[in-house]
Amino acid sequence: MSGLLQVSDLRVTYGKPRRPWRPRGGRVEAVAGVDLAVGQRETVALVGESGSGKTTVARCVVGLARPTAGAITFDGVPLEAQRPPTLRRSIQMVFQDPRTSLNPRMTVRRIVAEGWTVHTAVAPSGDRTAAVLSLLDQVGLDATVLDRRPDELSGGQCQRVSLARALALRPRLLVCDEAVSALDVSVQAQVLRLLADLRERHELSILFITHDLGVVRQIADRVAVMRRGEIVETAGVDRIFDAPGHAYTRELLDAALDIEVADPAEVER
Ligand SMILES: Nc1ncnc2c1ncn2[C@@H]1O[C@H](COP(=O)(O)OP(=O)(O)OP(=O)(O)O)[C@@H](O)[C@H]1O
Ligand SMILES: [Mg+2]
Repeated sequence: MSGLLQVSDLRVTYGKPRRPWRPRGGRVEAVAGVDLAVGQRETVALVGESGSGKTTVARCVVGLARPTAGAITFDGVPLEAQRPPTLRRSIQMVFQDPRTSLNPRMTVRRIVAEGWTVHTAVAPSGDRTAAVLSLLDQVGLDATVLDRRPDELSGGQCQRVSLARALALRPRLLVCDEAVSALDVSVQAQVLRLLADLRERHELSILFITHDLGVVRQIADRVAVMRRGEIVETAGVDRIFDAPGHAYTRELLDAALDIEVADPAEVER
C-alpha cells in the first residue's frame, strides 16, 4: 500500500518550567523517534495510555506543533512549518471536545462554511447554503440544525458538524484525536459507522487516535501501539487482538477486557 502520510523518526521535546528545585528547568521527550505510515484509504489507529505522546504526534501531522527532529511527508512532499494552502486543507483534524473545538458563538451554517473564506479554491461557486446542506446531509444532519449553535446540539451532533466542517475542505487525511471518546457507546458506534462510510465515499485516509481498544476493532485496518513516546508494535488489527506481539499491547488488551467485563455489573446496579 502506498504511503500517503509518512512519519519518520519524529521527535518532540518540551521544556519543563523552572522550579526552585529545578532551577535550570528540564526537558521532557514527549515523542522519542516515531515511525508511522498511513496509506491511501487506510485507517490506522494510534493507541496508548494517557501521556504516551499520541496527541503530540497528531499536532505535528496537522501542523499545530513543530517537531524537534524527524520528517513528515504527505504524498511524497515534506511538510515544513510553513505549508502551502493545498497541503493545509488536505489534512484536517477532528478533536475530542466540541465545546472547545467548535466556536460557541457561531451557527452550524457558519462553522461549516468558515474554511471557504481562506480556502477559496474549494469554495462552492454557487449557493453556499445548498452546499452546507449537502455536507450536513452526508454526515446525517438536516436543515433543522443550520442556525443552531454548538450548545444547542448533542455531543454526537457536534462531532457530525466537526466532520462536515472538515469535509468542506475536501481533505485527503483525517486526524481524529479521541473524536468519539466523549460519546455514549451507542452514539460512538453511529459516528464510527459514519466515519467508515465517509472514508469510502471520499477515499479518505484516517489516523485515528484513541486509548480505547474496543473502538479500534470497529474502525482500524492497522494499529500502532505507543508507549512513553515510542511505537512498541505496529500490526494489522486482527493480529493485534489475536496475537499481540508486545507485552505492553497485551497489558492494554487485558485492561480493555476488564472494562468490558465490568460494564454489565455497572448496568445492573
Ligand atoms: N505543550 C506542552 N508542554 C509541555 N509538555 C507537554 C505539552 N504537551 C504535552 N506535553 C507532555 O508530553 C507528553 C505526551 O503528551 P500527549 O498529550 O501527546 O499524550 P497523549 O498520549 O495524547 O495523552 P492523552 O491520552 O492523555 O491525551 C506528556 O508527558 C505531556 O505531559
Ligand atoms: Mg491526547
